[in-house]
Amino acid sequence: MLKICVLVSGGGTNLQAIIDRIADNTITNTEICGVISNNHGAYALERAKNSGIPARCISPKDYESRDVFNAALLDGINEMKPDLVVLAGFLVSITPDIIRQYNGRIINIHPSLIPSFCGKGYYGLHVHEAVLARGVKVTGATVHFVDEGMDTGPIIMQKAVEVQSDDTPEILQRRVMEQAEWIILPAAINNIANGKVSIVDGKAVVVS
Ligand code: GRF
Repeated sequence: MLKICVLVSGGGTNLQAIIDRIADNTITNTEICGVISNNHGAYALERAKNSGIPARCISPKDYESRDVFNAALLDGINEMKPDLVVLAGFLVSITPDIIRQYNGRIINIHPSLIPSFCGKGYYGLHVHEAVLARGVKVTGATVHFVDEGMDTGPIIMQKAVEVQSDDTPEILQRRVMEQAEWIILPAAINNIANGKVSIVDGKAVVVS
């Protein structure tokens, strides 16, 4: 049984997708051992509580320094004893210490087709604003392992989504969530939980 700890900052629709896919057995061999948010007001915490999942807020605002917060975050993750850490819209940077302790066991969902529209400053709506400003016809989402770079770890899954001429950033964000994020994040977790993902020559390989 793969135990996953999900880190969130906002609405938690990706968390909800994981909860729902476990409930309908699309994801097997997996349990959510806990949810951690850096944001006291994150609706994702409500979603976790509504599903009986242990949830807590570990916010930088509650600690005297960023270093003390980072240590508290690592302690919070360790207390849940996860096999895999899932960043589902988590807007706080993960320290090298956490990445070292969970090397190869942290994944992230990013709302673009990496390596496009990723890296510093590309998060949330900013990604979709940049997509529309560039005029690309296809965007999508990516699930990748987290390494010490920003959105640079091995890519596990991607799914393309059409950009429409009258899209606003909000409409496009919603389409990318519905047609890509909420599909490939659960699928990636299911593949990992069932031993179908490995790293070969620095690239993630998913066996069918
Ligand atoms: C999603 O768009 C995700 O791609 C990005 O942050 C957003 C989180 O949304 N990383 P939610 O909290 O899962 O609804």
